Amino acid sequence: MSPPACSLIYLVVFLFLSVFSFTNTHAHHCTERFLSEAKQRNLIITFCKRYVERNGVEIAMYLHEKSRRLDIMVGARLEEKTGWLAWGLNPDPEARMVGTQALIGIKYMNGNLLWDRYNITSFTKIGCQLLPSAIDLNISNFNFSYIACLQYYVIQATIVLPMKYDVEKLNHVWQVGIDVAERKEPKMHPRGLRNYDSTETINLRTGKRLASRVHSFRRIREVHGILNIIGWGMLLPIGVIIARNFREFPLPCLGWQRYHISCQAVGYIVGSTGWAVGIWLGRASKHYSFPKHGTFGIFIFTFATLQMLFFKCKPSDRDEFRTYRNMSHHVVGYSLIVASYINIRKGINIMHLDVKYWLPAYFGIAGCVAFIFLVFEIVSWFKFLCDKFGLWIICGKDIPNEEANSRKASREDGKVQPSDTPINN
Ligand code: HEM
Ligand code: HEM
Ligand SMILES: *[C@@H]1O[C@H](CO)[C@@H](O)[C@H](O)[C@H]1NC(C)=O
Ligand SMILES: *[C@@H]1O[C@H](CO)[C@@H](O)[C@H](O)[C@H]1NC(C)=O
Ligand SMILES: *[C@@H]1O[C@H](CO)[C@@H](O)[C@H](O)[C@H]1NC(C)=O
Repeated sequence: MSPPACSLIYLVVFLFLSVFSFTNTHAHHCTERFLSEAKQRNLIITFCKRYVERNGVEIAMYLHEKSRRLDIMVGARLEEKTGWLAWGLNPDPEARMVGTQALIGIKYMNGNLLWDRYNITSFTKIGCQLLPSAIDLNISNFNFSYIACLQYYVIQATIVLPMKYDVEKLNHVWQVGIDVAERKEPKMHPRGLRNYDSTETINLRTGKRLASRVHSFRRIREVHGILNIIGWGMLLPIGVIIARNFREFPLPCLGWQRYHISCQAVGYIVGSTGWAVGIWLGRASKHYSFPKHGTFGIFIFTFATLQMLFFKCKPSDRDEFRTYRNMSHHVVGYSLIVASYINIRKGINIMHLDVKYWLPAYFGIAGCVAFIFLVFEIVSWFKFLCDKFGLWIICGKDIPNEEANSRKASREDGKVQPSDTPINN
């Protein structure tokens, strides 16, 4: 199959999947096998959930209303040689990492399993060692074990909830990490959305979700990605291809400027909307961030805006000035495209940990743009060689150079020509 056809199919599949995933719910019932394991361990279930997009953790809980006793069982696959599984409650108003009173089970290289209690503070977040300490939960029957038939590592515990935890609005936080150190020290978890989204506020009596990051952000993140891909990743590069190839060489087309400008204007509007959504997302998720992706984003927006503003600025008649202006217009234009592709890739990497169809979509679109670009480039060079050396036999009928030149001359009417520098000579 040819690359454009490939990418078209990718695009369709990708749009279909993203529309489909809009209607999907993301906390699932837990698996049969986990449920039956929980029952075997005498855990009467108030609710049991599987957080597929949030580290794939399964959590079963049972609340004894009168005594405020909470039985929990938390399971996850720890696929690497070492790893850790954490679960905890946060008495603060928000379900977040800092402030969580956590139970952590650690798997060591030699198969050793250790578990303990951890008070997670803002020092943990800035990278201080996380070591076992007292926490303000009364915990009993706490252990961490491996269930071979499920291939799950499981934390089990009984907690007597202090009064400051509201059973109808309980913040629970979980996490899965890979690196561990001696003396029961878990190391920083990966930095993906699946890690940052691993929190929820629930009503323990019903098991209903009151707040969760995945639900409120998921669609907005997808809208952000799609707008940015269409704006910066498709329309702007196509605009550049138009300016580069339809001005006079290899396919002179008198209306090229109109198409170039409208492509860039629409691309800029769509891309900036996507960028604004990104800024909103960054603001809304105040406990975590993606600094490199965000910084690239701000640079892209700033330079694209400058490019758009300078377009308005009419060059004086001095040729010298016009040359510089055109040069900077080109340099900024090409750099923007490269930076956009880098940042789209970064954005997709953030999403890709969780949703696998973004990466093929990226390669589909990038491949398509690169393919069109290359085809024009080859045609250009071919024509250039033809014109220069007059190899009419392989080149066939062509617009001779003089005609292109006279066309160029006919345009010298003082109008703004943003990219009117000669190329390929
Ligand atoms: C082992 C030591 C740990 C380190 C060094 C660490 C570090 C971090 C950092 C730096 C962030 C924010 C990233 C950013 O600002 O962009 C973060 C976010 C997060 N971490 Fe940890 N973490 C650790 C352990 C844990 C544990 C044990 C849990 C769960 C009980 C957890 C749950 C979370 C969650 C849910 C977030 C998302 C932001 C939030 O809710 O505050 N982390 N972590
Ligand atoms: C050139 C194009 C792009 C620009 C200019 C851009 C810009 C931004 C900005 C400014 C942020 C806020 C960063 C922060 O402070 O945390 C952001 C966040 C984000 N972007 Fe992009 N982005 C682009 C492409 C993409 C793409 C293609 C995807 C995915 C397919 C994507 C996914 C995300 C995600 C998941 C977040 C974090 C959302 C959250 O905090 O929950 N971005 N983007
Ligand atoms: C947990 O750490 C915080 C911050 O350092 C501290 O204020 C709190 O008293 C600690 N909790 C317990 C139970 O030690
Ligand atoms: C913890 O809970 C148990 C009952 O499960 C109780 O006997 C014990 O006194 C409690 N300890 C503290 C420190 O509250
Ligand atoms: C872990 O604790 C639970 C509850 O006390 C118990 O049912 C289970 O058998 C324990 N598992 C292991 C491996 O010790």
